[in-house]
Amino acid sequence: MKTLIINIKELLQVREESINKISGKDMANLPKIDNAYLLIENDVITDYGSMDNCPTINTDKTIDASGKVVLPAWCDSHTHLVYAGNRVQEFVDRINGLSYEEIANRGGGILNSAKRLNETSEEQIYKESKLRLEEVMKQGTGAIEIKSGYGLTVDGELKMLRVIKKLAENYPIKIKSTFLGAHAFPLEYKENHSAYIDLIINEMLPKIAQENLADYIDAFLETGYFSVEETERIMEAGKKYGLQAKIHVNQFTAIKGIEACVKHNALSVDHLEIVTDEDIEMLKNSITMPVALPSCSYFISIPYTPARKMLEAGLPLALATDYNPGTTPSGNMNFVVATACIKMKMTPEEAINAATLNGAYAMGISDTHGSITKGKKANIIITKPVHSYYQLPYEFGSNLIENVLIEGKLI
Ligand code: NIG
Ligand code: FE
Repeated sequence: MKTLIINIKELLQVREESINKISGKDMANLPKIDNAYLLIENDVITDYGSMDNCPTINTDKTIDASGKVVLPAWCDSHTHLVYAGNRVQEFVDRINGLSYEEIANRGGGILNSAKRLNETSEEQIYKESKLRLEEVMKQGTGAIEIKSGYGLTVDGELKMLRVIKKLAENYPIKIKSTFLGAHAFPLEYKENHSAYIDLIINEMLPKIAQENLADYIDAFLETGYFSVEETERIMEAGKKYGLQAKIHVNQFTAIKGIEACVKHNALSVDHLEIVTDEDIEMLKNSITMPVALPSCSYFISIPYTPARKMLEAGLPLALATDYNPGTTPSGNMNFVVATACIKMKMTPEEAINAATLNGAYAMGISDTHGSITKGKKANIIITKPVHSYYQLPYEFGSNLIENVLIEGKLI
C-alpha cells in the first residue's frame, strides 16, 4: 500500500539523520520543507522532499494537502489513561477552595480512584479506557505511554496492566506500559511503608515480569508519598526485571529526587513544577529526559515547569499530557503544546520538538517515532488549511486537525 501526500504547505520536523533527542538551543530549530511531498509505504515513511522533485509513481492513494501542514503525530510519554469512573466531585471541591493536598488527606485523590478501580471489572475498565484512547488518537496522538497505579493491590495493578496490554493489542497506536504500584500508600500501609514496598517488590513485580506486562517502572517521589530512599528501592527492584525508571518527581516540592533518578539512569523525570538550580545541574549531561505536564499545572493551578530556565541551561525538554482523573482529565496534546507556548514561553518550534521527538525519547521509541525520517513509522498529522504552523498554538481552543494517520492508516 503506497500513499502519497502532495502539495504540503509545510512539512515539519524533517530529520534526514535520525537523532534521538533535541536539547537546549537546538530546540528552537524545527526543520521543515515548504511545498513538499511525503511518501508512505505500508506503515513507514519511505520518501519526502520538495514538490519540485515529487516522483511520478503509481500509488494506492494520493492525498492533496494544499494549504495544510503535515507533522509527526504527537508522542505522549506520560498518561494514566486507564482508570475507572471520574473525580468530578473533587473538581468542584477544588473550585470551592480545597487544595489537591487537602482532598488527598481526606481520602480523596489517588485512593479514591483506587477504590473505584478495584470495584470495577476489567471489561468495564477496558470499555471506559478505549473511548479515551480513540479520542486522543483523533486528536493527533500516535504513540502513548500508559501507567498503572490506581490498583495499589496485586489484583488491581495486574488488572490495569492487562487492560493496557489489551489496548496495545487492539489498536494500531504504539503503547508503552509503565508499572506505577508506588503511586500512593494504601490506607492499611499508612504506618508501614516498607510492608507496601515489600508487596510491590515481592508480589507485584514478579507477576508483572512473568506476564510481560510492563516496559517501565514509576513512583510518585514526593513529600507525603514516596521518599527518595523508598523510590530508590523501587528503581533498584525494577532494574532487576529490566524495567527502566520514569519517575513522578518535583510536582510540589524539591527534595533531591532528581539527583536519585539521574543516579539510577531514569529514562525520564516527569512533572518538575518546582525545579532548583541544583536539579538543573544534576540533569546536565545525563540520559534522563525532563518531562513537563502543563495541563496538570493548568487544571490544579500549580506553577508551570520553568522551561526557559531549563532550555537556557542546555537541557532537553519533553511535553506530555498526564491524562488522569485527578489532575488532568484531558489527553489533548494540542492543548499541551499551546499551553507550553502561552504559559511556559516556549516557542512553537520548541514546543513541537518537545511533543514529538523528545516525547518519543521519553518512552524509548525515538528510533521509530517522533520525526519525518525515512524508515520511521508513518504517524502523521494533517491539519486543516492554516496560514502557518503557528496557527496551531495560536488558536489554542480550535481543532485544526483534519486527518491523522497511524502506521500509515487513516484514523
Ligand atoms: O501525575 N502526581 C501523581 N499522579 C498523578 C495524579 C494522580 C491523581 O490525582 O489521580 C499526576 O498528576
Ligand atoms: Fe502522572
